[in-house]
Amino acid sequence: MNRLRVIQWGTGAVGSEMLTAILDHRDDLDLVGVRVYSDTKDGVDAGALVGRAPVGVTATVNVEQVLALDADCVLYTPRNTDIADVCALLASGKNVATTAFLFHPQRIDAEDRDRVLAACEQGRSTVHGGGLNPGNLSAALPLVLSGMSRTIEKITLQERADWSVYDSTAITFDNMAFGQPVEDISPTANEFLAFNSSLFTQQVWLLADVLNADIDEVTATVDAVAAREDHQIFDRLLPAGTTAGQRWNWTGRRRAEPLVEIETLWTVGGEYPAHWPSPQHGWTLTIEGDPSMRTHFFSLASFSRAASMEEHVRSANVATAMQVLNAVPAVCAAPPGFATAASLPLIRSYTGFAAAR
Ligand SMILES: NC(=O)c1ccc[n+]([C@@H]2O[C@H](COP(=O)([O-])OP(=O)(O)OC[C@H]3O[C@@H](n4cnc5c(N)ncnc54)[C@H](OP(=O)(O)O)[C@@H]3O)[C@@H](O)[C@H]2O)c1
Repeated sequence: MNRLRVIQWGTGAVGSEMLTAILDHRDDLDLVGVRVYSDTKDGVDAGALVGRAPVGVTATVNVEQVLALDADCVLYTPRNTDIADVCALLASGKNVATTAFLFHPQRIDAEDRDRVLAACEQGRSTVHGGGLNPGNLSAALPLVLSGMSRTIEKITLQERADWSVYDSTAITFDNMAFGQPVEDISPTANEFLAFNSSLFTQQVWLLADVLNADIDEVTATVDAVAAREDHQIFDRLLPAGTTAGQRWNWTGRRRAEPLVEIETLWTVGGEYPAHWPSPQHGWTLTIEGDPSMRTHFFSLASFSRAASMEEHVRSANVATAMQVLNAVPAVCAAPPGFATAASLPLIRSYTGFAAAR
């Protein structure tokens, strides 16, 4: 077996799921390094970080130390991305698989794209962005379904989610600006919202580019809705009157006709605006065409046994993490440069049923 050496960069909700899977289920992967941000995790054994026996790999906040490691792939899952760090990793010859960005690098800002590509060329390395959404549901799944299409007229993906139970409140409140004044929410309001919007814009371009939509533009809009009541969300208070709902829409158009659309109906605090559409919770993917198809996706800890809300919430983190972890061998085998859901082979579970043996 061709064993691969991996580095886990970031051990939050998603990174920890990767780490446990590497330690528990991946006999083809050797963990050789862990990059953390928190001082409390610095110097801690990687096994101890996720409640496992020590594995002899120490987590570090020292980026130079991580860059100096010999590794095949870095699993890059920090809260905020740093293109300089990613370029340094790529230039040092390490492939990068991330849940955070670079989902369709051909369509990012030209300067950044050229910089990432130059780093890939220097290190003969590959970068891939994936996950749940953006990722599988907004790219891989529509492309797989399109295999049954004769012709396509429109693709729409709707995500309906209440984030009250998502305990990464730094992402919901600090990055996504829930709890902030509604007039402060726009696709360009701050660096993170602009960045987040660009990720979904890339997903629309990816489907349009791969499926010959020949669109002229992708537009982004958001409708922010205020809370009627106060909500306590883990360590944060979302006060009445501040943002508790964000309906985002990214639409790719050819000569003004909408062809590819991604819409997210996000709330924190559980108040669902009456003027919004009401698809089922989870993700609804609709392909209008010949034939027209619709599928609904929802992840839980289990459909058959009782599970806590915490376990159910974790299931989406597991799905996000596994989509990228399972892609590692394909990313390492891909030619240098950008690898997307469209260029990689179908990503399957490495472990599958084997864990139950
Ligand atoms: N594509 C998808 O479907 C999808 C779905 C969910 C999340 N994501 C993305 O995946 C990434 C991880 O999400 P998560 O839920 O695991 O987040 P999280 O639980 O908030 O984890 C935060 C991570 O960020 C690190 N961190 C702390 N301070 C930081 C700083 N100043 N700059 C950068 N990173 C910092 C933490 O370091 P420590 O290791 O020290 O704790 C931890 O690894 C995010 O970029 C998120 O947007 C993508």
